Amino acid sequence: MEEKELLNVLQEHGQEHIFDMYKKLDLDGQKRLAAQIERVDWSMIAMAGHKELGLKRGTFEPLSALKIDKIAQNREHYEKTGLDAIRAGKVGAVLLAGGQGTRLGTDGPKGSYNIGITKDVYIFEMLIRNLFEVTHQAGCFVPLYIMTSDKNNTETIAFFEEKSYFGYPKEFVKFFKQEMAPSVDFNGKLYMEAPDSLSLSPNGNGGWFYSMAVTGTLEDVKARGIEWLNIFAVDNVLQRIADPIFVGATLDSGCSSGAKVVSKADPNEKIGVLCLEDGMPSIVEYYEMTEEIIHSKNADGELAYNFGVILNYLFRVDELERIMNTKMPVHTVEKKIPYIDTNGTYIKPEEPNGYKFEILVLDMIHMFDSCLSFEVVREKEFAPIKNKTGVDSVESARALLKKNGVEL
Ligand code: UTP
Repeated sequence: MEEKELLNVLQEHGQEHIFDMYKKLDLDGQKRLAAQIERVDWSMIAMAGHKELGLKRGTFEPLSALKIDKIAQNREHYEKTGLDAIRAGKVGAVLLAGGQGTRLGTDGPKGSYNIGITKDVYIFEMLIRNLFEVTHQAGCFVPLYIMTSDKNNTETIAFFEEKSYFGYPKEFVKFFKQEMAPSVDFNGKLYMEAPDSLSLSPNGNGGWFYSMAVTGTLEDVKARGIEWLNIFAVDNVLQRIADPIFVGATLDSGCSSGAKVVSKADPNEKIGVLCLEDGMPSIVEYYEMTEEIIHSKNADGELAYNFGVILNYLFRVDELERIMNTKMPVHTVEKKIPYIDTNGTYIKPEEPNGYKFEILVLDMIHMFDSCLSFEVVREKEFAPIKNKTGVDSVESARALLKKNGVEL
C-alpha cells in the first residue's frame, strides 16, 4: 500500500495515531506495518463498543440429547461403527491450541503446563495418552492436527520435539497456524505492540477450518481420505479423543455434526447449552439465557436446557467445506492488552484495557443442519483447566484425574 493510500485508510477509520508511528520507521518497518494495516477487517474494528452490531439471536427451543443410558444400551454397535470408521482412516482429530491461556497465566503454550505432583505430567502428554487409548483399541493411528498461533507455534513444536511427541508417531502429527486479529482500546483505536506492529492476537477458535484450508493442511486431510474431524480444546485433560462410541453414534444418527455434552451441575452453571435456534442446532451461552430459559422444564419434569457443551465436536468434512466461506459472527471481548504507548514504552495492564475480536467454534454448530447431542459422564470426561485454583483449575482437574486412576 502506498503511503498516501495508507494515510487515507487510517484517516477514514480514525486511526491517524498509527500513521505517526509509521512515519518514525525505516523502510522495512513501514512495509511490515503497512502490510498489517492492509489486512485489517474494518467492519470488525467498527464493532468495538457497539454491542448492537453483534450477533442477533433467533428463537431458542430445547434439543434433547442421546443420554448416557441409551448410549450404554447400544454401546457395542456404536463402538464397532466408530472403530470401523477409524480403521478405514475416515477420522482425524484437531487440537485447538492457539489460545493464550491468560487465565492460567503461565508463560509458554498452555499444553506445556506441568500438572504433575510427584512426576512430570504435561497437559499435552495427557491428551496424547487419551488418544493412545483409542489408537490401541483400533490398532491404527489417528491423524492429529494441532492448531497454534504466531504467539506459540515455535514453542509448541519445540516442546513436542523435545518430548518426542510423547511416543505418538510424528508422521501422524501436523501443526498449522491460525489467523491473528488486531486489538483496540475502549474507543476503538488500534493498539501497537511494537514500533512496527499492531497488537495482534489469535482470532478465536472458530477459524480453525479456514486456517486448515489456507495453510494447505486441508490437502493432507483430503489426501488421507478423512471424512470426519473431531475438534477438541487443549485444556480438558480427561477428554476422549476420536472416541469410537461418539463417532459411531454420530454416524448412526445421520447427523452432519455431533457435540459431546454434560448434564448441567446446576441450572445456573456457566456453560453454553446445546439447543435449537430457529429450528437449527445452536449453542446458547449462559449469559444469553433468560431466567425463563434457565428454569424451563420438559414433559418429564427435567431441565429443558440441560446439556452443556465441553468443546468436543465432530464435523463432517464435506459440510465444513460448504460453510467455509460463510462469514462467522465476531465476538468482542474485554481483555488486558499489552501495548506500546506513543513514547514506545511497553505497558502490561493489570485490568482490561480494550477489546479483542474473536470468532468461536461454538457458532459453527448453527451452520450445520443437524447435530447429535451426545451425553457423557462429567466426572469421566470433563476436567477443564482454565485457572490455577478454584473452579475449572489445575486443582480441580488434578482431583478428577486422580479419581480416574491417573497418577500425578
Ligand atoms: P479459551 O476460550 O479457554 O481461551 O479456549 P484461551 O485463550 O485458551 O484462555 P484464556 O481465556 O486466555 O484464559 C478454549 C480452547 O480454544 C483454543 C484454546 O487453546 C483452547 O483449547 N483457542 C482459543 C484457540 O485455539 N485459538 C484462540 O484464538 C482462542
